[in-house]
Amino acid sequence: MSAADNPARPGPDVRLCALEEIADPGGKGFRFRVEGRIFAGFVVRKGELLAGYVDSCPHAGWPLATLDDRYLTRDAGHILCTGHGALFTLDGQGATNPCLGLRLTPWAIEVRGDEVFTA
Ligand code: FES
Repeated sequence: MSAADNPARPGPDVRLCALEEIADPGGKGFRFRVEGRIFAGFVVRKGELLAGYVDSCPHAGWPLATLDDRYLTRDAGHILCTGHGALFTLDGQGATNPCLGLRLTPWAIEVRGDEVFTA
């Protein structure tokens, strides 16, 4: 079953958090649970950039962060999958093996005022 079929995936217009709750630079993970299924997504922020992704590595399907909200590398230049160390650009492109040429699945989000919502 794909992430799009997951009943736990929230529809549009669901408030995720206040923008200030996401570090700049930094990231924040979100979990939704419905009928025993879990949808996991995360949002990364760096300056003007705010991007959401399904929290599932294209390599082995693992969540990217093992520590809460540690989605970015120390220099905030890349998204890091702690599973096997793949790096992704902040726009979701796999930049190193084992994810070179793969990409993270986008999760549509938007900022309204000072708050972040699903889109
Ligand atoms: S699960 Fe992400 S690099 Fe292997």
